[in-house]
Amino acid sequence: MRTIAILNQKGGSGKTTTSVNLAATLAEAGQRVLLIDLDPQGSASLWYGFKEKGKGLFDVLTEDVGVEHAIEATGIEGLSFIPSSSVLAGVEKALASEVASESILKNKFHQIKDKPWDFLLIDCPPTLGVLSLNALTIANEVLIPVEAHVMALHGLVQLLKTISIVKQRLNPSLEIAGILPCRVDLRTKHSQEVLDQLRARFEGKVYQSIIRENIRLAEAPLHLKPINLYDTHCHGSHDYRQLAKEILSKPA
Ligand SMILES: Nc1ncnc2c1ncn2[C@@H]1O[C@H](COP(=O)(O)OP(=O)(O)OP(=O)(O)O)[C@@H](O)[C@H]1O
Ligand SMILES: [Mg+2]
Repeated sequence: MRTIAILNQKGGSGKTTTSVNLAATLAEAGQRVLLIDLDPQGSASLWYGFKEKGKGLFDVLTEDVGVEHAIEATGIEGLSFIPSSSVLAGVEKALASEVASESILKNKFHQIKDKPWDFLLIDCPPTLGVLSLNALTIANEVLIPVEAHVMALHGLVQLLKTISIVKQRLNPSLEIAGILPCRVDLRTKHSQEVLDQLRARFEGKVYQSIIRENIRLAEAPLHLKPINLYDTHCHGSHDYRQLAKEILSKPA
């Protein structure tokens, strides 16, 4: 099973859009995927039409509740989901005195003997607190979506440093799967320049796939569908299928 944390502490960089649509295009390609919404904002959960009910993942992280109790079907073949809940915002406080709170999720998954998934994808919140640390401790790979805008590059060096510290201290098997340029507008010189800079500065770490700016991706959550089911022929569908293909062609 490949476990990919989708992470960038910068807000609005395309984490949720990537989690939701990569999960769906991997499932479309025949993979069995479990998507976890680890963000108290619950954007991925809303996208798939999950309404808040009970504490779900919060109980898994803070009580003696197995992770299998939090798994829901999506109605899409090959794709299961663990929804978020707003109480997750209080998890930091609830786990303040807990020893090794960053490895709770990893331990909970360890208890599932036969894991029926090819991919575990985790949509992280835009903070590097205990939730993101749980994602980085269970993951083997980190996918970093970045908005193709020069301001977005600034936080990237720091983020890569943080990931390398987590690798040293908590999870030696953690690797950067790739930096994913999102919201790329190929009509503007600025977008193209940022893309060139990304590829020059983070050589070998940037995916070949890019996600273009596409209004259909912004509309899809209102229709409660991933992009490939909302508009199968749009740029967004093409780009996320391409990313799924690239990820499948490069095993962890
Ligand atoms: N390729 C794209 N084309 C058009 N709009 C996009 C694209 N990618 C993301 N967006 C829009 O940008 C906004 C931020 O995207 P998204 O929610 O995926 O970011 P995020 O990193 O998950 O944000 P947060 O840090 O708040 O969790 C959303 O309104 C989304 O619809
Ligand atoms: Mg998000």
